[in-house]
Amino acid sequence: MKITGTTRLAGIIGWPVSHSRSPLLHGFWLDETGVDGAYLPLPVKADRIEQALRALPVLGFRGCNLTVPHKRAALAIVDRIDPLARRVGAINTIVVAPNGSLEGTNTDAFGFRENLRELAPQWNSASGPVVVLGAGGAARAVVVALSDAGVAEIRIVNRTLARAEALAGDLSTPQTRITIHSWDEVSAVQRHAGLLVNTTSLGMVGEPPLVLDLSPLPVSAPVVDVVYVPLETELLAAARRAGHPAVDGLGMLLHQGRPGFEAWFGAPVRVTDGLRSAILATLVPPR
Ligand code: ATR
Repeated sequence: MKITGTTRLAGIIGWPVSHSRSPLLHGFWLDETGVDGAYLPLPVKADRIEQALRALPVLGFRGCNLTVPHKRAALAIVDRIDPLARRVGAINTIVVAPNGSLEGTNTDAFGFRENLRELAPQWNSASGPVVVLGAGGAARAVVVALSDAGVAEIRIVNRTLARAEALAGDLSTPQTRITIHSWDEVSAVQRHAGLLVNTTSLGMVGEPPLVLDLSPLPVSAPVVDVVYVPLETELLAAARRAGHPAVDGLGMLLHQGRPGFEAWFGAPVRVTDGLRSAILATLVPPR
């Protein structure tokens, strides 16, 4: 990579940010497209995020991604929030407009939908109610994606019911009914469901595994895990054993990067096997 006087700049702002795979992801696409661009890790603490975002147009940045702990805080800082990001309640992508204003969006719902389209093409919104495990930030993006895809009923299972109630209150629409359930009901809600999605951190390296009896779930229903370290969680292994289509979380991460790249660098990009292997090689937990 050669930096020139006209190199287009973007990056990811977070604290910590060193664990982020986004520089690798966008670096892969920069190499592949040959765009004169650079994508940098930008470590910024919570109390400096407003200064950092305001500096983006001053420094000539095209925009940035946001990660922990800035995704909600940015809602109060950017100049324009697209309606989808407002519904998700978080901004993960900022585009600097030609006049220097900051436009905030969220591409996680897009990433989820594209990954599902690619890895479970047989699924559609008429396949039946969808079970969503979890009610955190990832769950919100997944619920928005499912609602926009036309799913009529979403069953949320969460440990903290108040959080599920808040999600249902914010995201229910006349077309999409959201019901809330405790973990005691996790078997009952799987009956006649058309899709099951884990958005909790259970199963992630360092967290307890998600051990679920999937026998009530119709065998045609895909099982999606948004966790991608490890790639093959216990939940996905159990789903495969029981004959369900199983969809891992890496594709969601990769696809969510596309809209930002295309906006900042002006070239279309795809999620290919080569990209998956390149990122996968960095996900193997150190021994
Ligand atoms: P993210 O932004 O990745 O969604 P989050 O907002 O912290 O992260 O949400 C984590 C989700 O995992 C929540 O649904 C959380 O349940 P609570 O709302 O009850 O906290 C769920 N979760 C995490 N650890 C869990 C555990 N040990 N048992 C059950 N649910 C758990």
